Amino acid sequence: MNTTTLINGEHKSDSILFNIQNQDGDLYQRLCDKKATIALVGLGYVGLPIALEFAKSFKVIGYDINSARVDMMKQGIDPSGELVASDFENKDIRFTSVAATLDHADVIVVAVPTPVSKDNSPNLTPLSKACAAIGVSIAKGNIVIFESTVYPGCTEEVCIPILEKVSGLSCNSDFWVGYSPERINPGDKVNTLTNITKIVSGSDEYAEREIYNIYNHIIDAGIHVAPSIKVAEAAKIVENTQRDVNIALMNELSGFFDKLDINTHEVLAAAGTKWNFLNFYPGLVGGHCIGVDPYYLIHKAKTIGMDLNVIGSSRNINDAMPARVVEQVKDAMKAQGKDLADAKVLVLGATFKENVTDLRNSKAAEMSQIFKAQVNQLDIVDPHADNEEMLAYYKLQLEDKIGYDYDAVIYAVNHDEFVNIDWEFIELIKSQKVVVFDFKKLLGYPTSKISDVEYITL
Ligand SMILES: NC(=O)c1ccc[n+]([C@@H]2O[C@H](COP(=O)([O-])OP(=O)(O)OC[C@H]3O[C@@H](n4cnc5c(N)ncnc54)[C@H](O)[C@@H]3O)[C@@H](O)[C@H]2O)c1
Repeated sequence: MNTTTLINGEHKSDSILFNIQNQDGDLYQRLCDKKATIALVGLGYVGLPIALEFAKSFKVIGYDINSARVDMMKQGIDPSGELVASDFENKDIRFTSVAATLDHADVIVVAVPTPVSKDNSPNLTPLSKACAAIGVSIAKGNIVIFESTVYPGCTEEVCIPILEKVSGLSCNSDFWVGYSPERINPGDKVNTLTNITKIVSGSDEYAEREIYNIYNHIIDAGIHVAPSIKVAEAAKIVENTQRDVNIALMNELSGFFDKLDINTHEVLAAAGTKWNFLNFYPGLVGGHCIGVDPYYLIHKAKTIGMDLNVIGSSRNINDAMPARVVEQVKDAMKAQGKDLADAKVLVLGATFKENVTDLRNSKAAEMSQIFKAQVNQLDIVDPHADNEEMLAYYKLQLEDKIGYDYDAVIYAVNHDEFVNIDWEFIELIKSQKVVVFDFKKLLGYPTSKISDVEYITL
């Protein structure tokens, strides 16, 4: 059959495309036949699971600039701590930190970090460097797919120009580009790569079709084809911005209700009985996605002279939460006739969320830093976190064990290891009077057995 495909605004027949691509058929078919290779650039939380999933049936190159991480992966160890040794078994994958290996790739998927700089503006250095390395290697007929979270327009305004400049090739006639945002959730064993609907988009209909076929091969939940790269970029960032804004609303309300002596969780339990009430709760917003992505939108808006006020205010509210927690503990202690400066404080949890090892952008750790500057003794316990990383990122020491005589216990991250902490345990480790800050209301209100407790939830 001789169908047509839109390239650079012109319809070209599939038979012409066939020649542009390869005598052996389209890229997807060649991946299936192992006559083509797919490479992952950036093997972190996002890139490694995708690489291993593709490696169940395709020939895969896993490239990362960090050779220490690559050495671990060669031994079947996930440096991010999400995957187990068996996930590496029986996979057609070659791990490398040598960029020139990308010469052998026909499809290249990019999953490098897209953090923010100190001033919260997008830091596109890893993405630009990855594009430059790929530009050196790409050849006619290759497809480059971006998975890193970016603002709408970034792929076309930043990535494609670097690829074209370095390679001397042209997008949509020599090589093709796509964007497919990643939606995995670290620590989540239910919503995993293959059972989350995948959004795909392409620089033209040919790219869209190939990228659809490639992801459709591994995704069980189905593929949503976005009409353009910009739509796919915006969709991902809006998902996370929506969460950030909704959590900020709850954080603002909980600060307000606290002053009115109203328990926010009781309000939410009552309001949640309405069919269309959205279930969001107050909390700390850290990590590399929800607390970062809205800044990409804010930046993009600024470049066209717009301020995103709701999104900006939400970021400010959520970023101020660690300091607010410390103030609430200080006030509660004052009510007990105690001074935070004399206190021995225990913080349970340091990672950015429960059951992950990742300490980067952790609001729990940031809160511990604020406590450290104000208390007599601070003990931080986190069975998932690495002490060396904690020292490097936050200059804070982790304790192996929970001690005794605490004036305040801050239940910040609900790792599975902490589920057995109950009021009897608090009774055991507290000083005569204690402030308990129970972020997610896991302990529930103190039972009558326990006395001299100032209990706070967000
Ligand atoms: N972690 C998540 O839950 C998640 C979810 C959805 C989307 N994302 C997005 O996916 C992207 C990747 O995030 P992540 O969490 O996997 O990051 P990560 O920090 O876990 O891993 C990134 C990897 O890329 C490597 N790297 C950095 N620069 C490189 C380069 N120039 N060339 C090759 N490798 C390079 C690093 O060494 C690291 O191993 C980001 O844009 C992020 O916003 C993350």
